[in-house]
Amino acid sequence: MTRELRLLAISGSLRKGSFNTAALRALGALAPEGVLVEVRTLHGIPLYNEDLREDGGFPPEVTALREAVRAADALVIATPEYNYSFPGVIKNAVDWISRPPQQPFLDKPAVVFSVSPGITGGVRAQWALKPVLAGLGALVLPRPEVAIGSARAKFDDKGALVDEDSRKRLAALLEALIAWTRRFGAG
Ligand SMILES: Cc1cc2nc3c(=O)[nH]c(=O)nc-3n(C[C@H](O)[C@H](O)[C@H](O)COP(=O)(O)O)c2cc1C
Repeated sequence: MTRELRLLAISGSLRKGSFNTAALRALGALAPEGVLVEVRTLHGIPLYNEDLREDGGFPPEVTALREAVRAADALVIATPEYNYSFPGVIKNAVDWISRPPQQPFLDKPAVVFSVSPGITGGVRAQWALKPVLAGLGALVLPRPEVAIGSARAKFDDKGALVDEDSRKRLAALLEALIAWTRRFGAG
């Protein structure tokens, strides 16, 4: 008997019309029965400042994010590519989440994919982000690698992912993450 799996899907873009957030919504809609996907953005996370932590602990938005990561069976991160890497918005959040006590990335199954209007699909951003998460002890799924390029042609004007090949790739990624997560004992 397998139990329900809860996946936390974090978008690295704050943009309303974000392709990465839209791709996470598409992935969530592809989830099989018994798998819940919560899509979350990083709005409201302050810039990392050690003084804030020393003065009164984590800011409430950070505490909520840390708790959400801790409670999730696995993480999905969709990252844009900014100047050949992942955006500072993600690095800032990772820095907050990574601080003690009980660093919640440790032993957490995770997958990273990227979406970009460019033809390389933001693959350099995910190549930069994966070692950061691995360094924190997250169990980063090595493959399949999903980088959705030429995004303007693959989403409609309401943000629905209409490209069948991309939908299949996201479904395969989700299936692999579910197996990966169960392999490490969840569900
Ligand atoms: C500061 C900045 C740097 C960017 N650098 C790259 C880049 O190196 N490679 C790339 O494919 N796209 C780059 N882009 C374009 C983004 O991929 C594009 O804005 C994309 O829509 C961002 O993802 P989103 O739709 O989820 O917000 C850059 C955009 C910005 C704002």
